[in-house]
Amino acid sequence: MSKKNKTRICIIGMPGSGKSTIGSLLSEKLQYRFIDLDHEIEIDTGLKIKEIFKNRGEDNFRKIETAMLQEMIVKDNVIISTGGGTILKNEEILKKSYNILLHCELSDLIKRASRNKNRPLLSSNVENKMKDLFNERKDLYNKIADLKIDASTNITKTVKDILNSLES
Ligand code: S3P
Repeated sequence: MSKKNKTRICIIGMPGSGKSTIGSLLSEKLQYRFIDLDHEIEIDTGLKIKEIFKNRGEDNFRKIETAMLQEMIVKDNVIISTGGGTILKNEEILKKSYNILLHCELSDLIKRASRNKNRPLLSSNVENKMKDLFNERKDLYNKIADLKIDASTNITKTVKDILNSLES
């Protein structure tokens, strides 16, 4: 199945860009199955993402993440909200899907992430760490994105913008 068929969609982008919320709303509109990759990992391992990082380390998390993505990405009529770092090790696998990049201003990402204590890579010094992640990843996101959407404003508008772009 070609990724251009848009029946297999991955939502990619930085932590705090709204991947899970927007992916879920989009799946309702398109009547696709919604999969949140981190959530699937938590169900499968019986551990919270931050526990996996703490007990097993990031490398191990990345292996689990790749295995889960590989398992999920073969399905059709599906929207997968990836984790912010999924792009790091999975460029090849992501070529199998139509990838929507949610773009947010760094300042908004920092504000949002400062309110959430569940991100192991952003548990302290959020501003600097977010900047580092952003700089390290922005080219990768852009390279793999089939569609780039501004997700800095409101969620309803972002979902509408995506739907309009998917139809055109
Ligand atoms: C990560 C982002 C998280 C989660 C894990 C690692 C990252 O997902 O997968 O904590 O490397 O940026 P969100 O982007 O949903 O926060």
